[in-house]
Amino acid sequence: MTMRQRIELTVNGRIRSVEVAPHHTLLDVLRDDLGLTGTKECCLVGECGACTVLVDDLAVDSCLMLGVEADGASVTTVEGLATGDKLHPLQEAFLETGAAQCGFCIPGQLLAAAALLANDPHPTRAAVEEGLAGNLCRCAGYEQIIEAVVVAARAGASES
Ligand code: FES
Repeated sequence: MTMRQRIELTVNGRIRSVEVAPHHTLLDVLRDDLGLTGTKECCLVGECGACTVLVDDLAVDSCLMLGVEADGASVTTVEGLATGDKLHPLQEAFLETGAAQCGFCIPGQLLAAAALLANDPHPTRAAVEEGLAGNLCRCAGYEQIIEAVVVAARAGASES
């Protein structure tokens, strides 16, 4: 039996204390231990960006980080973007531009975009393309996704 290790992390503003297997990734912890299945599991090797979350405000592939490494950290997942019933401006913009097609990559795209806008509130289109280059979309909906981030930046998404 694998010894489990207790970690404490803040997830979407709420302190969570959880016993995790030392070899489990942050992605495993979020999905399996905390039931936050909005973060998607896909390539598991850091290639697709579907598992992107914010760890201490930085975009991270949660499949590449061990859960124990997140001990003490603040993690934001897609479930933490909206405020009550009010969608985050990025989510509004993704809806407005039709950026979500099958939807599988969207949680990761949203978190990568949130990190991008936190660093650069008014990015050029090229900067958005570069900032989201690590997030693949199997529907190839890149035009709408880029447009959504540009629209959200114009709406002041980084201030929310
Ligand atoms: Fe983590 Fe693809 S599932 S990068």
